[in-house]
Amino acid sequence: MAHDWYKDAVFYEVSIRAFADSNDDGIGDLAGLTSKLDYLKLLGIDAIWMLPIFPSPLRDDGYDVADCCAIHPDYGTMDDFHLLVQEAHRRGLRIVVELVPNHTSDQHAWFQASRDPQHPEHARYRDWYVWRDNDAAYRDARVIFIDYEPSNWTYDDLRGQYYWHRFFHHQPDLNFDNPEVQRAMMRTLQIWIDAGADGIRIDAPPYLFEREGTSCENLPETHRYLKRLRALVDAYAPGTMLLSEANQWPEDVRPYFGDGDEMHMNFHFPLMPRIYIAFAKADRSPIEWIMARTPALPDNCQWGTFLRNHDELTLEMVTPEERSFMWDFYAPEPRMRLNRGIRRRLAPLLQDDPDQIRCISSILLTFFGSPFLYYGDEIGMGDNIWLEDRNGVRTPMQWHNGPNAGFSGGDVPADRLYAPVIDDPIYGYRRVNVAAQEQDPASLLNWTRAALQVRREHPAFGRGDLTLLHPESKAVFAYVRRHAGQSILAIHNLSSSRQEAVLDLGAYAGRGLENLLTGDVVTVGVSGLWTIPLSRYEFLWLKVI
Ligand code: GLC
Ligand code: CA
Repeated sequence: MAHDWYKDAVFYEVSIRAFADSNDDGIGDLAGLTSKLDYLKLLGIDAIWMLPIFPSPLRDDGYDVADCCAIHPDYGTMDDFHLLVQEAHRRGLRIVVELVPNHTSDQHAWFQASRDPQHPEHARYRDWYVWRDNDAAYRDARVIFIDYEPSNWTYDDLRGQYYWHRFFHHQPDLNFDNPEVQRAMMRTLQIWIDAGADGIRIDAPPYLFEREGTSCENLPETHRYLKRLRALVDAYAPGTMLLSEANQWPEDVRPYFGDGDEMHMNFHFPLMPRIYIAFAKADRSPIEWIMARTPALPDNCQWGTFLRNHDELTLEMVTPEERSFMWDFYAPEPRMRLNRGIRRRLAPLLQDDPDQIRCISSILLTFFGSPFLYYGDEIGMGDNIWLEDRNGVRTPMQWHNGPNAGFSGGDVPADRLYAPVIDDPIYGYRRVNVAAQEQDPASLLNWTRAALQVRREHPAFGRGDLTLLHPESKAVFAYVRRHAGQSILAIHNLSSSRQEAVLDLGAYAGRGLENLLTGDVVTVGVSGLWTIPLSRYEFLWLKVI
């Protein structure tokens, strides 16, 4: 099998807790996901990225890991994981598992031993975390969860010292200057490869090392360690994909790809909010601006692109003006805002406007990189901003219009579910659910299935180069993807009003263009100048024939 499978893949991000509950305890589980693999296969995705599945007090939805090498009992057993992998592979689907190297839960046995001088294993684990007598060090490092944490240091009574944490105070950072810690994470990686993972998402990689006088992000030491992880993967299980989550500017992300010897993929964080700004202003310029700043990647590397994920829509990689604009436009109510971002799902961000949702999704599916869909967005699920933290975008998947939306059995009392099912008039499960959309040929679900099918048939979308076109109307966003002799033109109207796109297609004068979504064919005139009327949020995928 090709080692660079991730270049053609469409990923589906899923929270195990939220997807399907197989044993009616109100919590989604691995067996539940396994039972829905046919749904995902039919949807047309290639790989499933699972949020953390490990034992955890779940104060950060599992990113507070209490044991890196086991399964949370709510979600099942290692056998359930093996069965999931086996059934996924049988269908040609791949599984991506989380590795959270930067920190653990304060409940992890390593931290318990580290903080407690009386602990029988204290001597061994004493230096596994970053301890100091005071909170003076690393003052140049920003606080990330600014709505919750006043400092990156927290005092521990038992040890009588401060420990370092980039995220919640209950998530102490591991000390990567300790070779034992470095080895422990490499072992963890091997354990999940042995268990069958095809890819590993590396959580929060920029923060592994700390150095005085720096922002403690993207340090050379961190890159050296990530290269060692990659070398391990290449030697131990070539073809295992490493996906890093460096939420950074393109020039700071570029080193995470190294010379093709570090991470295979990294998310393109700064692109995402600019796609939303482009729609809000009906102006493609913000996307052009970030593309001009986006460096080329080594051949074996790929960007990961996304519109939404399990976190707040992060506004860290924008200017203060852009952030204010995004907040005013997309998060007018204070509850919609969180940290430096917006806790809303795709459909509510776009006022449940089917034309606009399809148009923005079309950009995700045709632009460069490999797209990541977030569970539930394929049916236009809503959010619940009244839930704490980011839980409002992690509510139960809406399978049908019966009790509990089909997430748990119908007899399970609603208050036993880990979170309430969305039940409002617009986004509620009675109206928005998989079963209803399967029956409706015009549904978002069926559109997504069709679009993914077309994407799969055309490697140019995953592998092609990208040339932006520059029609006069800024509301028109058009580009050509080219790969192995195939050229595909994607044209989008970013505005809610009719546009005329005048494109200079001189290179294709006299050639036919096949509309990949409708099958229609048009011919480009000999002049090469082509005027295309576009209705509100209309988009075209045109293959040069
Ligand atoms: C990543 C995750 C986020 C988590 C954080 C700390 O950013 O996406 O959900 O809270 O890491 O582990
Ligand atoms: Ca369950």
